[in-house]
Amino acid sequence: MWKYIRQYLFYAILAGLFMIGEVSMDLVQPGIMSRIVDYGVLGLNNGGIGDLHLIWKLGLQMVGLVLFGGLCGSLNNAFVHMSGQNIGNEIRKDCFRRIMTFSFPQLDEFGTGSLVTRVTNDITQVQNLVSQFVRGMIRTSMLMFGSMYCMFRLNRDFGLVVLCAFPLIVGCLAFCLAKANPLFSRLQAQLDSINAILQEDVSGIRIIKACVREIYEKVRFGKANDELIRTQLRVLVIFAFMNPVINALMYIVVAVILLVGSFEVGSGAATPGNIMAAITYTTQLLNGILMLVMLFQNISRGIASWKRVREILDSEPKLQDGSFAGETKLQGEIEFRDVSFAYPGSNRIVLDHINLTVHQGETLAIMGATGCGKTSLISLIPRFYDATEGAVLVDGVDVREYNQKALREKIAMVLQKSELFSLPIRENIAWGAPGAAPEAIKAAAVTAQADDFISSTPEGYDTAVAERGMSLSGGQKQRLSIARAVLKSAEILIFDDSTSALDLKTEADLYAALREANPRSTKIIIAQRIASVRRADRILVLENGQICACGTHEELLESCKAYQDIYHSQIGEEEKHECA
Ligand SMILES: Nc1ncnc2c1ncn2[C@@H]1O[C@H](COP(=O)(O)OP(=O)(O)O)[C@@H](O)[C@H]1O
Ligand SMILES: [Mg+2]
Repeated sequence: MWKYIRQYLFYAILAGLFMIGEVSMDLVQPGIMSRIVDYGVLGLNNGGIGDLHLIWKLGLQMVGLVLFGGLCGSLNNAFVHMSGQNIGNEIRKDCFRRIMTFSFPQLDEFGTGSLVTRVTNDITQVQNLVSQFVRGMIRTSMLMFGSMYCMFRLNRDFGLVVLCAFPLIVGCLAFCLAKANPLFSRLQAQLDSINAILQEDVSGIRIIKACVREIYEKVRFGKANDELIRTQLRVLVIFAFMNPVINALMYIVVAVILLVGSFEVGSGAATPGNIMAAITYTTQLLNGILMLVMLFQNISRGIASWKRVREILDSEPKLQDGSFAGETKLQGEIEFRDVSFAYPGSNRIVLDHINLTVHQGETLAIMGATGCGKTSLISLIPRFYDATEGAVLVDGVDVREYNQKALREKIAMVLQKSELFSLPIRENIAWGAPGAAPEAIKAAAVTAQADDFISSTPEGYDTAVAERGMSLSGGQKQRLSIARAVLKSAEILIFDDSTSALDLKTEADLYAALREANPRSTKIIIAQRIASVRRADRILVLENGQICACGTHEELLESCKAYQDIYHSQIGEEEKHECA
């Protein structure tokens, strides 16, 4: 944390100095008050005759001090916020930068909901922690120790009374904080789950409505909310019980001071003004302690949040960059050398001893039932995950030896779920190749069979895409994502089930255009339909993470039972296509 505080230490120090000014003004007031009562009103030094002139003089002095204290307070506030907000801002930027470096296993581990809570709510708590610390710590400690000191100076016996009550109050405080502390971490974790549900439900509200799952989701969200409130209430109850206990203790102190004071006034060891001042100091002390309680509450919460923010900042990328920086001899060749894979944290084998080489310019299609490991297989090529066993080589070099950016620059990928941004169509296509010329963008769209529908809209390539591409049909989204990959003109093109929403004719046109536009690039195409894959150079059939067969359409039709089954189940569709 020091790293961040250091940058804004100047503001924090200024804030501290102004706070010292503010509290000092509070501390000298009761002393002046005592003199007004004793010498101005009661005239204790003048045989019982009051002194109006002194009352005026001291009264004006008090007003001046109050005004000065107020000014210090305002300046303190301003500088506290300057330091707190700026520190929060720096931490937030660092967190975001760090998250951008996360590899897929890290993203899986944190979860989107938790990352969002950490960057928003947790950092706000940390920001409060800084402000409270700078403002509160100085104020409370000065108020507490200052009033105690002034009290001793005023009258030793009064000071002793307060000192005796002190351990009791601190004990009570410590007890409550110990009870509440574990609840703060739980509170943030529960906030995580609420955010995760909220995110899923808001982005998936269409499917919720389509499946009439509103009530189920309401109950799920309600449950998470109830749990949060229950924890929050437990914290509040703890502190609700603590406040009156501390108040009662302080009033007992006031009563004892009055009792002791009445004896001492009788014996001449104290004056009525002294008692008044002592009671004011006691209230200030009480204020200091109550503020300390609030402060500890916020500090505990802030520390719990800071730990969670630290987890982001300290999380080292699970996949480290390799040192290979040279040029590769080959281009667009992919080799799986006895690759097995299980997702981090799970021991279920998703890919089982895969051996496969895809040559430059070749088109390899991958087929197989859902969940058989197709997406997992291709995720190993751009090194989203590392193989558990064996090695994946791109252009003859192990992917673990590449700089990840350099490796991914060789690959253009269309993910199974098309991700679009709320930007114009033009920028969505140029997302992976910023600064691309308008002609190149158009050419990519033509190859992806997207130009027709784009040009038919009134604003053409400047049409705005709604958040996550909500304003487009599934097929349109897929074609824009494909255009984006085509524009990148990488040596390896990977389509993960990216043409599923296209009709067979558009799909066939797309593949033909792709062959023409990028003849040298290696293409891996995951698809469900025989029609999509039959023209590929080779077709790989994957079954439960293992290669079942690999060959041309004709070869597989002769030799592979699984492929024959798929073929026969789709034959009707095929024939329709042939007729068309
Ligand atoms: N991020 C992940 N973490 C853990 N398991 C996963 C993850 N993604 C997929 N899986 C599991 O890996 C298996 C293969 O998934 P996947 O490769 O996506 O299948 P396919 O693309 O062939 O439908 C599935 O059983 C799935 O449950
Ligand atoms: Mg998949």
